[in-house]
Amino acid sequence: MQNFDLHNPTRIAFGQGTVGRLAELVPAGARVLILYGGESARRTGTLAEVQAALGSRVVYEFGGIEPNPSYETLMRAVALVRSEELDFLLAVGGGSVIDGTKFVAAAVHYRGDAWDIMESHGTVVNTAMPFGCVLTLPATGSEMNKGSVVTRSATRAKLVFASEHVFPRFSILDPTKTYSLPLSQVANGVVDAYTHVMEQYLTYPADGMVQDRFAEGLLQTLIEIGPRVLAAPDDYAARANLMWTATLALNGLIAAGVPEDWSTHMIGHELTALHGIDHARTLAVVLPANLQVRRVSKHDKLLQYAARVWGITEGSEEERIDAAIARTRGFFESLGVPTRLRDYDLGTKHIDAVIRQLEAHGMTALGERGDVTLSLSRRILEASV
Ligand code: NZQ
Ligand code: ZN
Repeated sequence: MQNFDLHNPTRIAFGQGTVGRLAELVPAGARVLILYGGESARRTGTLAEVQAALGSRVVYEFGGIEPNPSYETLMRAVALVRSEELDFLLAVGGGSVIDGTKFVAAAVHYRGDAWDIMESHGTVVNTAMPFGCVLTLPATGSEMNKGSVVTRSATRAKLVFASEHVFPRFSILDPTKTYSLPLSQVANGVVDAYTHVMEQYLTYPADGMVQDRFAEGLLQTLIEIGPRVLAAPDDYAARANLMWTATLALNGLIAAGVPEDWSTHMIGHELTALHGIDHARTLAVVLPANLQVRRVSKHDKLLQYAARVWGITEGSEEERIDAAIARTRGFFESLGVPTRLRDYDLGTKHIDAVIRQLEAHGMTALGERGDVTLSLSRRILEASV
């Protein structure tokens, strides 16, 4: 097992009816900015519930944070925080709103050009405003991690930053808040969480015995509840399990002491930036192809995944690996999430532009061994067509 340093300060308030806990979780005298996305937070009544729980605190609102939040929009929130001297941020939404809030929290106190935060991947961040979250979409894990993904619309650069300073102070996870989600977003959440686990698990053996068992348990839970969360939007138990599984999939726990991949995500981010495909949907396209192209370097873990997650124990090693990759693809497809570039009317001729983006963003040595060069990314994309 590798050495590690694990620290996660985010308080989780989980369960039905927990939005009311904002009354105690947000500091009493805070001047609050509520950040949200399009209209879902207002339409579902969550925004009104949040405002009620904040009571007599001074509260401003900033709506319009788009999926794949843009730097340009977020800088307007930064200006509002500065001009009104607000001191606490509250994200009400999914990964995009939470990621956007993290960026605002870091940018308000940053003295240079705020895009430096993204270009440095967070190393220039020395402080950030405190913030909390009310999660409405289980998928990204942003509610309990220190990562954020922001897109500069003008240049189509979708970059990641991470900083210890942008862990949420708390996150409220009320599974009933997910009942209003379109089923396509629920399916996205299952696929995103699944791929997060795979990026931290399906690498090479590193004697992380309990990390592997945790990861396999999260994958098996997602396989079990995937059909249930789509069949009945108000199945509380299924939604609660999805919400907690998605949080645990990317809160640092299963990554501690083991190698991590993340090449599927980095290639996927470029597909979103160029073609506007939902984050999780890019992963469903890239992951099966990535496993196929890198099956030699991932051989041992693929066999472990086949046996322990899918119960595949018959046949030659190569047959078992084939079957495990096919089951992964089949699981995504069963949720209504396509797994081929052609499903988005994209083909071989679109690959050059993705490679140019990866190069421009320094994504030239990806993966758990740093061996996913641009030519390997190209092969993965070719296998995704
Ligand atoms: O904008 P509104 O009207 O609120 O609608 C949203 C949005 O259109 C809707 N929605 C959210 N909660 C709802 C709801 N609709 C009805 N009822 C509800 N309860 O869902 C749509 C998608 O929301 P979004 O926040 O974009 O989705 P998601 O949570 O999947 O976040 C995706 C973003 O997170 C980043 C992705 O790159 C992408 O930008 N990621 C962040 C990570 C992190 N911070 O650790 C890791 C991930 O790998 C990922 O990269
Ligand atoms: Zn993701």
